[in-house]
Amino acid sequence: FTKKKSSKYCVTPQLMMAVGTAVMGSLQFGYNTGVINAPQNRFYNETWSSRFSEPIPPGTLTALWSLSVAIFSVGGMIGSFSISLFVNRFGRKNSMLMANVLVFIAATFMGLSQLAGSFEMLIIGRFIIGVYSGLSTGFVPMYIEEISPTSIRGALGTLHQLGVVVGILMAQIFGIEAIMGNATLWPLLLGFTILPAILQCALLPLCPESPRYLLMNCNEEIKACNVLKKLRGTDNVGEDLQEMRNENQQMMREKKVTIIELFRSTIYRQPIFVAIMLQLSQQLSGINAVFYYSTRIFERAGVAQPVYATIGTGVVNTAFTVVSLFVVERVGRKPLHLTGLMGMAISAVLLTVAMSLLVSICMGFSWMSYISIAAIFSFVAFFEIGPGPIPWFIVAELFSQGPRPAAIAVAGFCNWSANFLVGMCFQYVEQLCGPYVFIIFTVLLLGFFTFTYFKVPETKGRTFDEIAAGFRMSAGHGADKYSAPEEFNTLRGDDPDL
Ligand code: GLC
Repeated sequence: FTKKKSSKYCVTPQLMMAVGTAVMGSLQFGYNTGVINAPQNRFYNETWSSRFSEPIPPGTLTALWSLSVAIFSVGGMIGSFSISLFVNRFGRKNSMLMANVLVFIAATFMGLSQLAGSFEMLIIGRFIIGVYSGLSTGFVPMYIEEISPTSIRGALGTLHQLGVVVGILMAQIFGIEAIMGNATLWPLLLGFTILPAILQCALLPLCPESPRYLLMNCNEEIKACNVLKKLRGTDNVGEDLQEMRNENQQMMREKKVTIIELFRSTIYRQPIFVAIMLQLSQQLSGINAVFYYSTRIFERAGVAQPVYATIGTGVVNTAFTVVSLFVVERVGRKPLHLTGLMGMAISAVLLTVAMSLLVSICMGFSWMSYISIAAIFSFVAFFEIGPGPIPWFIVAELFSQGPRPAAIAVAGFCNWSANFLVGMCFQYVEQLCGPYVFIIFTVLLLGFFTFTYFKVPETKGRTFDEIAAGFRMSAGHGADKYSAPEEFNTLRGDDPDL
């Protein structure tokens, strides 16, 4: 990673250990997104037959199945919305540690459901792991952003998404029939989620608390200073400390920021609107239509080995998150997000053309199935360039310490709700629109592109305090000693509202 000219900090082992431990929470989220698969269908059937001595009616099977998939996102909504109950009371690190209790309970429920002959246990387990994942999508980016030096905050923030995509890939690979995705081993596949939780519980006590939390929420300046020295690998942490003190002074001038306050106050209205739109741009891009239903999409497109094409999606997904990690500090958040959205829109058009040619003129167009694979791969690749990683960490950047937990809760809730919506509706909309279903996402993607172009500010290289000052100024709260840097104003374009 390149260093910012004014900054002398680099990536230290302590920093990497703390970030690496935190992203085990992200890995759980990804793993449980990707893990739900076909073998459990049979379990529902068998359990029903042994209870009622008749096969399960197809409608009931579909309903139970959809419930097991969707209840994860319902848990996610509840979890993400609750983060502000924890982070200020127990601290960032302890909140992450405590949340693991949920993993132990969920893994037990899911892992033992077959033995107990109860699909209710599986559904409850999915709900609890959903709550945990919702908490993680708030805790992890917040902790990472708060311990990172400004110059590499985006790159380290992208590691949350890298954790997610590696989790999805692991689930796809372990879910192959020959490994654990079969009628006997699937409980193990679901229970496997306990291992990263054990590892995280062992490592978290060795990681530092967020120095921002120590200074601004606990008033422990000496502790904060010591943690900073360890994280930065130098005694010269005056610049960071001063920045936190400035932010702290500003925070003391504001009253406690509740979720309602976020929407009422003119200072926060703009950034919370931007944060929500970015979350929606991530989910309504249609990415999870691909992840939840890729095997079916590939089957429809006439791909011979759909399961392997699905794993290919996971590999492309991971590879391009790594690309984003290395370019985000050089190129900036906004250009990457814009590139990603436009690339996804073009890929969606390509997919639609390929799918409709396959459906209407089967003969002579079978090679279109390769075009479909290429279109899905490029859809996923462009997602990971920007819309995948950036929304998760940019919310922490758009807000200073006071409003941050409430803002992350609201943004996370919107993300999970949109995730739920796509997961529930995609099958039905697809039945209605056939091969043209991705046109809906194309239109949405172009809308989000326009929004991002006009409304989203660049946050690269700016301290939290500078970013917040930019929003304060644009909300008409005048220039004070926290005046916005020139770059912020230039990058927001000529929009008088921002
Ligand atoms: C993001 C999304 C998640 C999606 C994943 C795919 O983390 O929040 O819903 O499944 O990316 O890589």
